[in-house]
Amino acid sequence: MRIAMIGGGYVGLVSGACFAEFGIEVAVVEADRAKLAALQAGRMPIYEPGLESLVASNVAAGRLSFGDDIDAAVAGAEAVFIAVGTPTRRGDGHADLSYVFAAAEQVARALDHYAVIVTKSTVPVGTGRKVAEIVRATRPDLDFDIASNPEFLREGSAIGDFMRPDRVVIGTDSERAREVLRRLYRPLYLIETPIVFTGLETAELIKYAANAFLAMKVTFINEMADLAEAVGADVHDIARGIGLDGRIGRKFLHPGPGFGGSCFPKDTLALVRTAQEHHAPTRLIETVVAVNEARKASMASRIISACGGSVRGKRIAVLGLTFKPETDDMRDAPSLSIVPRLVENGAIVTAYDPEGMEQAKPLLPPSVAYAADALAAARGADALVLITEWNEFRAISPERLRAAMAGDVVVDLRNVWDPVAMRRAGFRYSSIGRP
Ligand code: UDX
Repeated sequence: MRIAMIGGGYVGLVSGACFAEFGIEVAVVEADRAKLAALQAGRMPIYEPGLESLVASNVAAGRLSFGDDIDAAVAGAEAVFIAVGTPTRRGDGHADLSYVFAAAEQVARALDHYAVIVTKSTVPVGTGRKVAEIVRATRPDLDFDIASNPEFLREGSAIGDFMRPDRVVIGTDSERAREVLRRLYRPLYLIETPIVFTGLETAELIKYAANAFLAMKVTFINEMADLAEAVGADVHDIARGIGLDGRIGRKFLHPGPGFGGSCFPKDTLALVRTAQEHHAPTRLIETVVAVNEARKASMASRIISACGGSVRGKRIAVLGLTFKPETDDMRDAPSLSIVPRLVENGAIVTAYDPEGMEQAKPLLPPSVAYAADALAAARGADALVLITEWNEFRAISPERLRAAMAGDVVVDLRNVWDPVAMRRAGFRYSSIGRP
């Protein structure tokens, strides 16, 4: 079986490599020359655990290839996936679909046989129909079907999420298309993965509903954390106490500085816009968006007050810049709200992140210094702030940290350290939602 994947970004690259691992021949089309050159040379444009070796072995097996020639890529392909970017449009917060529509037109021109055209990018409800219209207008003679197959990949564990998903969602009105996609996902049938077949619009909405629900869950526990802090309760016990109820579930109840990343902020906003346009406002999600923005903005004040009300002239070490661990992705990372506010307030910031520093540099104020490791960032600091919970930070000994620092303030925005051990080491330690 052969497929084409339009777009070698995060979603296209991971999905393409994983389909190849299923034994399918995958041609990935990437328009960005630098990115394409990197992929052809076996270098990954993103950091994702396990991806480089998965790509290498499938390229070596002749199942996975990268190029910029759409005609060659779609030749013989039974399905063509559109996995190009859908950034937030400037001004109105809606998803920018120009790349998706351009890809649809190119694919339509290139195809000379029946194929299922599948949207893999997260696209607003109704986009699949528009893609179908574009294809039909471009090539009235072409025999094709349209399907929506949203991805639920988490950065940092995307390969596992693809190979062992909780479910696969396939939205299409065509039985023929369903059959093609069923064959594509055959290896998942063997591990009894539920496959949810729906209509086109439903599949598109499932993706948004899933992300909005998860964003809401994180926002809920963040508010409970603030309340816990105010009344002297422990948010982790609350998360466990409610999460053991099977209807609630234990996952996604870890408090922090607010959600970020390439999906939650963009998708919640796009859902809100779609709902408003259809006069069916999602007020709950509107509130989630507003509460999360306010939370990210308020984290700097929390740090400033932990430092006694001012950070002017103080040296602050920042550990973790990416929106979450195991990725180099800085998109909508809480650090982008926090670090500039600290600098504006006169702090001298030295930051360290295991993978994200190159990505962070152009986005953070130029005065920020970067250290080679966590202890180097902490050396001589008056205060230390942990923003992203990389595992290597958990292993740092509180005593060594205390010895490296000049001051004794630690603000842990991810609750990675044990408050008792931190206080024993002599820190004035504050975290989120713990007494
Ligand atoms: C998310 C969805 O999980 C995935 O299914 C979808 O396809 C894309 O968006 P991702 O953005 O990679 O994946 O990150 P995720 O692990 O879901 O975390 C999102 C944000 O929520 C991060 O900023 C993370 O720090 C935050 N988060 C998550 C919390 O603050 N607490 C939690 O308990 C979980």
